[in-house]
Amino acid sequence: MQTLNENTVTDAVVAQMGSTPNPRLKEIMNAAVRHLHAFAREVNLTPAEWLEGIRFLTEVGQKCTPYRQEFILLSDTLGVSALVGLMSDASTPGMHTDASLLGPFYRMNSPQFKLGDSIAKQIKGTEAVMYGRITDSTGKGIPGASVQVWQTDEKGDYDLQKPNAATEMDLRGTLHADAQGGYFFRTVIPAGYSIPMDGPVGDMIRAQARHGFRPSHIHFLIGAPGYREVVTALYTHNDPHIDSDTVFGVTDSLVVKVNGSDPASPLPHLPSIKYDFSLAAAGKDESSGRVGADPSQITKKPSEGAPSLV
Ligand code: BEZ
Ligand code: FE
Repeated sequence: MQTLNENTVTDAVVAQMGSTPNPRLKEIMNAAVRHLHAFAREVNLTPAEWLEGIRFLTEVGQKCTPYRQEFILLSDTLGVSALVGLMSDASTPGMHTDASLLGPFYRMNSPQFKLGDSIAKQIKGTEAVMYGRITDSTGKGIPGASVQVWQTDEKGDYDLQKPNAATEMDLRGTLHADAQGGYFFRTVIPAGYSIPMDGPVGDMIRAQARHGFRPSHIHFLIGAPGYREVVTALYTHNDPHIDSDTVFGVTDSLVVKVNGSDPASPLPHLPSIKYDFSLAAAGKDESSGRVGADPSQITKKPSEGAPSLV
């Protein structure tokens, strides 16, 4: 019989988990246990604090629905989503557009649009055209590349945050690049917004005296057969929170300006944002580079036909 104390318990857990047949699961769980134990030791975690942590995580789970993913929000606000995305991209440096968070407001099967269509059901605020090319890492256009786009409205709200979220999609869509890899669509300039603050993650942000805002941005998920998907977002340069994003999604290369007059734009009468995206060739065993998923897929159980998210 072993003697358990605060120094030996970690090795006892790792030894018992040694029977895990899946080597990757074993590696992940061993590291998770060692780091969790080290964290509890470092802060000398008390029983009351441990229970508060359990209560917090319970509330995070209870807040999750097919339209709301509080765990992704927690990961985002702790910088874990940004870290996982950056590590995933580090294998192909400089070969593709930098990644940014998928976030909790991505939805699968958004409406299909033709090039030049507007993804906004109503034009409130400033209408603009977004255009550019989708290329490979050498600058060659990728014909037919699919471009999924989603954003907030002029007030900073996503369709998923509105009362008719279950039936209505707005300010999101899927389009396909032309034969030269060119794309363009019309939209409204989105507003920056506060992350959802009415749940436990909001409580955490307030307890840390953080502002909780994201700078205004437009999300993209771009793919084509044979290429690694790019999940990214473009951020407008003059937003007051451009240097203090609550979820660590902004990097220099993704900051854009709205151009008031651009003769090269396909719709020169509108303000425009021009951006060229590039995709790296897919590796042999490439799985998805998405850090996140449509919330409705995460709450589904395998018995309800949930797809594998990895
Ligand atoms: C978003 O950009 O949609 C987002 C990302 C992380 C947290 C909240 C919102
Ligand atoms: Fe967003």
